[in-house]
Amino acid sequence: MIYDELGADYDRMINWEKRLERDLPLVLQLLDGAPGKKLVDMACGTGWYTTALRDAGWNSRGIDLSSTMIACAQERDPTGNFQQGSMLLPLAEQSDVIVCLGNSLAYIHNITDISLLATAWYESLVPGGYVLIQVVHLLPTEVKLLNGKEFSRTLAPTTGPFYTLTISRSSDKSVVAEDTLRCWSENDLMEELSKKGFTCQTFGSLNQEPLKNNSPDLVIRAVK
Ligand SMILES: C[S@@+](CC[C@H](N)C(=O)[O-])C[C@H]1O[C@@H](n2cnc3c(N)ncnc32)[C@H](O)[C@@H]1O
Repeated sequence: MIYDELGADYDRMINWEKRLERDLPLVLQLLDGAPGKKLVDMACGTGWYTTALRDAGWNSRGIDLSSTMIACAQERDPTGNFQQGSMLLPLAEQSDVIVCLGNSLAYIHNITDISLLATAWYESLVPGGYVLIQVVHLLPTEVKLLNGKEFSRTLAPTTGPFYTLTISRSSDKSVVAEDTLRCWSENDLMEELSKKGFTCQTFGSLNQEPLKNNSPDLVIRAVK
C-alpha cells in the first residue's frame, strides 16, 4: 500500500497550515447540528484533521489502515487518539460523527465494498449521526502538489473510473510510489448511502457550493 511506503513524506506534499486554515472552518460548519461531539476521522492519514478537530472541541479519534501513517500521526501528536483499522468495519462504540476527508474513498475500488462501508458506518453512528465525505469529483488530467521542490503528485486517468496516482521525488527523479484510485460518482455513493437509510446532501466543495459538472470536489453530508 502506497501509504506504508510514504509515511511522513505525505506531509511534505501538503501545506497543512494553509489547508486547515482554509478548510477547518468549512468542515466545522458542515458538522453543525451533529447530535454530539464524539467523532471518528476515518482514513485519517497522518491525523492532522483528528488533531485540529480535537483542538476545536471534538472528542476525536483517527483510524487508518496503514500502521505507518498511524505511527506518524502518533509521533506528531502524542496525546492524539489514533488507531490502526479498516474503514470497512463497524466501530466498537457508536460515534456522533464520521468524517472521511481528502479523497480517501478513492482507495475503495468496488461498489460491494462501498455498500459494506455504508452498512458499517450506519451501524457505527448514533441516531441523527453525521457522515461527512470529501472526494475528488472532476478527474484532473494532471495535478501537481509541490511543497518546496522535493515531491510531486500526479493523477492521470486510466480506463473507466480509475486513475493512477504517482508520487515521485523530484530531486533525483526516482519514483517513490504508485497506486490505483477510483473516482466515485455522486450517484454511486448516494445510492449506497441512501439504501442503508442515510439522508444525503451533496455539495461541490466544502464551502457548500452546489455540485456542478465542473466542481472540483464531491462533498456528501449523510445523516442517519
Ligand atoms: C489521501 S490519504 C487522506 C488522509 C487524510 N484523510 C487527509 O485528508 O489527509 C488516504 C488515506 O486512506 C487510508 N486508507 C486507504 N484505505 C483504507 C481503508 N480501507 N481503511 C482505512 N484507511 C484507509 C490510507 O492509508 C491513507 O492514509
